[in-house]
Parts: sequence; C-alpha cells; structure tokens
Amino acid sequence: MLEFCGVNFKNPMVIASSPLTSEVKWLIEAEKHGAAAASTKLAFIRQPFYGKLRMHTYKNNASIICYDRRKDMEESLRLMEEGKKKTNLVLFANITNDGRDLDGWSLLAKKHEEAGADFIEANMVCPNVGLSTKNIKGEEALSNTEQGGAVTGQDPERIEAIVKTLKESVDIPVVVKLTPNVADIGVTAKAAERGGADAVCLAGAQTSLPLVDIYNNGRPKYHLLNGVSHGSLGGPSTKLMCFSHVANIAKKTNIPVIGGGGLETAEDCIMMMMWGARLVTVCTAAMWYGWEVIEKQVRGMEEYLEKMGYKSYDEFIGMSLQYLRSSSELEALEGWPTVDMEKCIGCGKCAKPGHCDAIEMVDKRPKVYPERCLGCGICIAQCPTGALTMHVEQ
Ligand SMILES: Cc1cc2nc3c(=O)[nH]c(=O)nc-3n(C[C@H](O)[C@H](O)[C@H](O)COP(=O)(O)O)c2cc1C
Repeated sequence: MLEFCGVNFKNPMVIASSPLTSEVKWLIEAEKHGAAAASTKLAFIRQPFYGKLRMHTYKNNASIICYDRRKDMEESLRLMEEGKKKTNLVLFANITNDGRDLDGWSLLAKKHEEAGADFIEANMVCPNVGLSTKNIKGEEALSNTEQGGAVTGQDPERIEAIVKTLKESVDIPVVVKLTPNVADIGVTAKAAERGGADAVCLAGAQTSLPLVDIYNNGRPKYHLLNGVSHGSLGGPSTKLMCFSHVANIAKKTNIPVIGGGGLETAEDCIMMMMWGARLVTVCTAAMWYGWEVIEKQVRGMEEYLEKMGYKSYDEFIGMSLQYLRSSSELEALEGWPTVDMEKCIGCGKCAKPGHCDAIEMVDKRPKVYPERCLGCGICIAQCPTGALTMHVEQ
C-alpha cells in the first residue's frame, strides 16, 4: 500500500495511457494482473483528426508511435464511468485541449471528474497533436487545433496557466504529464508546481524517426502509412533518459513524480522509484509481452520489499538521489580489471576496445597492464562469461 496525493494505491503500478487503456476489457485485464491504477486513453473534446494505431516496433529496443485512435470526450466519459463501475482501479483521465482556450481544459476536467475519475492527467506530452507540425514547419505554422500535448508542455507560462485553471475546475488531484522535448524538464516541472499541480508524470515520448530502407529511396520500413511524423518514443531505449528526467524533477520540485519509460522488469520499476518516482507507469512492455509482465513486475516489487525487510515503498523512494552530484563534484577512484581465469574462454573481446591497450591477449589469455587502465569498464561489459571484475584501489 502507498499513498499518492491523498489517494491510496495497493502498489505503485499504473498502466500508462495507450491502447492498453482504451477499452473497459483492457482495464479489467489490468486489474486482473495486479495493477493498482490506469490512465485512460487520451481524450479531446473532439479530436482534430481520427488516427489509427500506427507504430514502428524495434524488438528489444523501442517503439515509435506515429499516431493512435484517441477518444472524443463523450466516448472517454463512457469509458471512465464503466471503468469505475467494473474495476476497483484508481483511474487517471488523460486529457488534452487542442485549442488555445482554457475553457476546453476546464470542461474536460470537470466532465471527467463527474464521470468518476480519481485524477486528472493533463497531457502535455503527446507529440502527435502539434509538435510534429512544429518540428517540420515551425511554431508559426501551428493551427488553432494543434495546441495541447507536447507543444503546450514546452511552454512554462502556458503550463502554469492551464494547471491553475484545472485546479480551479476540479477537486480531484491534477497531474501534469510532461514532454521530455525541452532543454530542462526541471523548468517545466516547476511551472506545473507553480500552477498548483499535485504531481507530475514523465515517461518516454522523446520525438524520434524510424529506420529507413537504404535500398528503396530511404523509405521508412513500415507500410501502413504514406509517410512518417516525428513520433513518440517508448520502450527500453528510453529508460536511462527517463531516470535522468525523473531525478531532475525530484530534485527541483516538492511535488511527487510518476516515472515511466522502458520499464520491463520489477528491478526497472524499483530503480525508477529509487531515482525519485512515487508511482511507475508501464506501456510498451505489456504491449510487447502481454499482461503477465505487469503481474511479474507487481509480484517482483512485493518480493523485493519482503526480501529487503522494507515495511513500505516509502523506505526506498528517492534513495539513489543521495548519489546525484554535479560532475565537478565527482571524485574519480583508481582501479583496473582483474580476470578469473577459470571463467575466461579466451575470446579476446576484452582486448578489443579501440582506445585502450590495458589488456593484451597472450597465448589466448588476457594479460592486464593495470597502469594503462583508463577506467572505462568496457572490457568488463564486453566479457561474455563475467570473468572480469573491477578492482578498486583503496
Ligand atoms: C501506442 C501508444 C499510444 C500511446 N498513447 C498515449 C496517450 O494517449 N496518452 C499519453 O499520455 N501517452 C500515450 N502513450 C505513451 C505511454 O503512455 C508511455 O508514457 C510511453 O509509451 C512510455 O512508456 P513505455 O516505455 O513503458 O512505453 C502511448 C504509447 C503507445 C506505445
């Protein structure tokens, strides 16, 4: 059990807004597999165009979402009402207003609160509303119906004004899901805090372009679209960037953070929490591998608590932030690799790094020259059998 903005969660797992949360049957699956909460599929008052799910998928690496079928408000309200009736999930209403007015935000929030939403999640993250236009044609090309999503999430003044409006409109907590496509996420997170946000959420969504076919005029390798937009990145390749963004927010604001992006295992979720997230979100892993992933993550987190003797998640949230310092404050320790010859298979991978001659292969065995070690640790990462470890000089 943990508390978040005054609401009790049975565990930290939130299913991220996506096709996984676009129908009641999936919300039921989410609950069945142990999730505490879900964020419903993005709703507009009336969506500017009707997309379909179109995405590039790179196994073990990433997804790029060019667009998806979103919800008009009436559909979204039905989903919220039914979701609350048929599950005990905590539900976040993921909303965005594509116009320049504040009234649209207010209407969406009020209606979703009436429909039973536990949280408003203001979507200032989706690049498929206006950012894909801005990235190609510039800010001045944005139309009145291409506001909202990530375009809004790049503008601290707008974020603050919208959050103020949302807070005046509803009694339930307001979370802002921020775009990472900014110079410093700490600045936009602070703007949300100034507006009165109860929490912020950060999870993937770096704009990205896909691989192309170099033997076919550079055509993107995906055929169910006539072109490609700067789409939204999800999946394991975003995880380390998201750790950094979440820690940045955790250090600079006094409101809780929801963290996601590439979380595939319980260990990933725990690490995200150690970097400052109070709740975690998962999308790509469950889309790729099925709902069992959620069950494993939830069970794994519970087992971790027990194994470590922690009474609650609070005991380790933000634990890694104590190690965070600016690079000028870091002190380099000296060391070099040592080899366990019983595990070594003589493959020579450790002697390959192009910038280093600290290891030479002699009679198919690595010979280490400690004084030449540069400390990069690449030899250790490359060893297929775990024969190398780093000796740290005291
Ligand atoms: C197909 C697809 C549709 C998505 N739709 C939404 C959405 O409607 N609203 C939103 O805030 N995020 C949306 N996202 C982003 C996810 O909620 C999540 O933040 C992101 O994918 C990063 O997490 P992951 O690496 O676990 O996928 C979508 C992601 C995918 C893959």
